[in-house]
Amino acid sequence: MVNPEKLLIERLAPAFAQVAGTPVDPSTRRGRHADFQCDGALGLARRLGRDAREVAAEVLRRARLDDLCPTARVAGPGFIELDLDPARLGTLLADIAADPRLGVPRADRPETVLVDYSGPNTAKEMHVGHLRSTIIGDAAVRILDWQGHTVLRRNHLGDWGTPFGMLIEHLLDIGEAEAAHELSVGDLTGFYQAARRAFDADEAFREHSRKRVVALQAGDPTTLRLWHVLVAGSKAYFTAVYTRLGVRLTEDDFFGESHYNDRLPSVIRELAEAGLLRESEGAQCVFPAGFTNREGEPLPLIVRKSDGGFNYAATDLAAVRQRVREVGATRLLYVIGAPQREHLEMVFATARSMGWLAAPTRVEHVDFGYVLGDDGRILRTRAGASIKLVDLLDEAVARARAAIAGKNPDLDADTRAAVARAVGIGAVKYGDLSADRRKDYRFDYDRMLAFDGNTAPYLQYARVRSLSILRRAGVGTPDPSVVPIVREPAERELALRLLALPEVIEEVGASLEFHRLTQYLFALATAFTTFFEKCPVVRAEPAIRDSRLTLCDLTARTLALGLDLLGIEAPDRM
Ligand code: ARG
Repeated sequence: MVNPEKLLIERLAPAFAQVAGTPVDPSTRRGRHADFQCDGALGLARRLGRDAREVAAEVLRRARLDDLCPTARVAGPGFIELDLDPARLGTLLADIAADPRLGVPRADRPETVLVDYSGPNTAKEMHVGHLRSTIIGDAAVRILDWQGHTVLRRNHLGDWGTPFGMLIEHLLDIGEAEAAHELSVGDLTGFYQAARRAFDADEAFREHSRKRVVALQAGDPTTLRLWHVLVAGSKAYFTAVYTRLGVRLTEDDFFGESHYNDRLPSVIRELAEAGLLRESEGAQCVFPAGFTNREGEPLPLIVRKSDGGFNYAATDLAAVRQRVREVGATRLLYVIGAPQREHLEMVFATARSMGWLAAPTRVEHVDFGYVLGDDGRILRTRAGASIKLVDLLDEAVARARAAIAGKNPDLDADTRAAVARAVGIGAVKYGDLSADRRKDYRFDYDRMLAFDGNTAPYLQYARVRSLSILRRAGVGTPDPSVVPIVREPAERELALRLLALPEVIEEVGASLEFHRLTQYLFALATAFTTFFEKCPVVRAEPAIRDSRLTLCDLTARTLALGLDLLGIEAPDRM
């Protein structure tokens, strides 16, 4: 165990239990006047009707702390202040330096986690909501995988339903080759809108479209082939976007709505057998308990429309059942915007009452807010259209390239292009992940691309600086036998940050609140900046120099790991 806070709790807990006569949670936190502070004696003293300072002193007498915190003391109204022994800090650092996982343990109980994310719609442009889902989902995949879970990626592509009648008819009108071209180069909006225009303007087209939907649902081979052309073109485009973004989604992870078609009839049958289906205005509905509209009337979850078509909810029900029963996932994550909360909760409630979703499986809606523009409104182009995601990325990379050219004109063209990509795309991802995901967040190039502040470039740059110190010292990997010497306050602060990684990873793996990981990395980079300014490395006497080189190396590795878990590249130079 390398986590100082956990070590302290392990030592304090038995002492508290002895004083209290029952187990007490001796929660500690980073202190203002000490490395850590424990406030447990205050609550306990109140409970026992005793003086808090006395209780704290008794805890300290009973706790075995001399090898960890020889100067542990009572302060103020009854706080326990704990400073870690510098020698002990040194050995803890040496332990994580020798560990390729930097002290982060694997999950005690690895499980099968399924992540449903991205989910764009065929023949429609991906919008910024899909971008958020893709970025947050990718970070979830990475951190859970790093913890040792089996992670299954599911791209719940919208690839089925009524719009396909009109889309297939439009495809026939313009010709297959032209359609395939438009879709794969990503002119999805153009394609979709042209189909929509024909549908709105032309009665004959509308009629053909309706017949086409029926033929599609009946499995007519020609229609299915044309549907396939549409889907394949869009998939190629989405895959290109994922590659550009550097997320782990591949074509093998596409499990579109159509994947569940065969299971829909049995979903409806089981619902009917359980007596959960009711007809309402011709549609088949479930009315899960506890969901009402503003008038207090029960809210329907429509599973089959009056025209016989199954809809979004039916597919989601089939998917939950399949994911639990057939795939065996025990944790299901739905990375979907907050506006779909009610839909998901109704699906989950229905699945629970059917027994499709039961312990030990848990389901979580990993929800997120809107992306806003400068004006504080939902991000759109000036003309009011929704913004094409690739254009956002292009712009971020172009701006990053300009910033880097100014900062380091010596980089060769290839390196500069690679760094611009890492910084531009990284900044977009970091901007998203560093905000509390449940809140709306403002998309602001200047802020996210700044080299100062809580941004990707700041962290990437901090790592580049630590690597360049190692380079200047002529050291590739520091001597693994070095036990760092922690003397200066700046060294101490950096050491404590480096040692706090495991608890952050554990917390974020559970909460999927990635802004806690970005806050941690930002604090680490800030501690490193202070260390960099206050503590000479290359010029220091040999023992101190070796020790500080190890700190630089640990900082670089921790930043690289943290950024990688967020899906952000860390260039070696910039
Ligand atoms: N295609 C949907 C949309 O664009 C997102 C799919 C989310 N996943 C799910 N299982 N419902 O809104």
